[in-house]
Amino acid sequence: MSDSEIVVGIDVGTSAVKALAINRSGKEVFSSSKEIYTDSVRSGWNEQEPLHWWNASCQVLQEITSYLDARNIKALGLSGQMHSPAFLDKNDNIIRPSMLWSDGRTSSQCADIYESLGGDRVKNIIGNPILEGFTAPKLLWLKQHEGSNFKKLDSFLIAKDYIGFLLTGEKVTEPSDASGTVLMDLYSCDWSKEVLTFLDLQNVELPEIRRSTDVVGGVTRHASKATGLLEGTPVVAGGADNAAAAISTNSMREDVCQISLGTSGTVLQTTMRPVVDDGLRLHSFSHCLPNSWYSMGVTLNAGSSFAWFANNVIDMPNRYGILDDEASIVDPGCDGLVFLPYLNGERTPHNDPNIRGAFLRLDASHSRGHMIRSIMEGVAFSIKEVYELMGSLINPADTVVVTGGGANSKVWSQILADVLGKNLSKVVTQSGPSHGAALLSAVGIGWFNSIHAAVERWVLLSDHISFNRDHMESYQESYFYYQRAYSKVKYI
Ligand code: XUL
Repeated sequence: MSDSEIVVGIDVGTSAVKALAINRSGKEVFSSSKEIYTDSVRSGWNEQEPLHWWNASCQVLQEITSYLDARNIKALGLSGQMHSPAFLDKNDNIIRPSMLWSDGRTSSQCADIYESLGGDRVKNIIGNPILEGFTAPKLLWLKQHEGSNFKKLDSFLIAKDYIGFLLTGEKVTEPSDASGTVLMDLYSCDWSKEVLTFLDLQNVELPEIRRSTDVVGGVTRHASKATGLLEGTPVVAGGADNAAAAISTNSMREDVCQISLGTSGTVLQTTMRPVVDDGLRLHSFSHCLPNSWYSMGVTLNAGSSFAWFANNVIDMPNRYGILDDEASIVDPGCDGLVFLPYLNGERTPHNDPNIRGAFLRLDASHSRGHMIRSIMEGVAFSIKEVYELMGSLINPADTVVVTGGGANSKVWSQILADVLGKNLSKVVTQSGPSHGAALLSAVGIGWFNSIHAAVERWVLLSDHISFNRDHMESYQESYFYYQRAYSKVKYI
């Protein structure tokens, strides 16, 4: 056993593709990240070019293989943004850009799916709401709005699976991303023939569903040239970003809740059976762990609200330290200012692609620091709505772990703890989808005999963020206002 041996996890994220190299002791040896661009073609329409996913993947892997000896890289695990398909023709060429998980154009197709399947089948087979960002309605949109593209459609692959295909030549997925297409039977973890027939999608080729820890193939000669990885390096199926992150934060028990402050904000709790929300507000997806599922709700614009303000409004990209400092000197509650983070619609609990964001109660005494802090608070309020909803459906968690880029901000993590009135744990070791993917690949090639065994060795939780009771109380008025604001802004 040598510490020079490495596994790599890759996360085909929305704002960037990231790769992380981990040695046998679980230590990070190298990481690399390349930003990718989202084309907001129209209000609520968000697209990316799958070729950009691939180019960025090649760049991060090349950086890793130029820093580390490729002979030491024993496996690569995959992870990535959910629901975003690469549409492929019969020669596996890309037909059109991917419509992302945050794309809201398919409301009418979602209604069509409810209509064709009926509410009982939606609950009893898919176990999820049919939402604009999910994959199935996008296939129907293509059929109804771009008939010539739909005619060319032969297969589709979700972001990380597309990268897996370009690396290995194998069209494969695993349960956590397959369930996010809403074409999978949540109970049997297999594609649902019934759903495919009702939606008339039987002719679309679907990838084989393998286990998250399965080696799905070896790096091809072509991909080896493009990435620097050795030909034959095993590629492991991995998991959807939220599920993979939950592995990396040890949120695999029913009494642990993971909150991720990434581009989107997610609240996730593992369940040992599918827990279907009768009101279909929460999602229920298959996990990367065998015989496990997770319940999840999503704030569509978490880190993306912050990035929007930093990049588009005040032109201070990547100056997060300064912006954090400015937010930290503003009092909790922002002297009345409230931000609604609905820049692109909202998922949980509203499932409303048409709602839009707002700064409310803005006055001349407010500074830039107030606006930054109110974005952090608004996102925390949205997450609290999801957290409360989840607590009403499944047993409230004892431990809440916070992860994602936003969790690197002390101010934002503290705001979240105070708004929730809950102490938060953080991971001391690396965490996030690329770490989860690396860990799954280590299990896949036999470094550990189970995901639990790997987590026990590689994941260390601590770093308590204790909530401040006075702050918690002072947020109550703003939260109350925030909750009422949705319907006011909707019907304005
Ligand atoms: C989950 C979802 C987002 C993306 C972000 O349903 O749409 O969290 O996975 O990458």
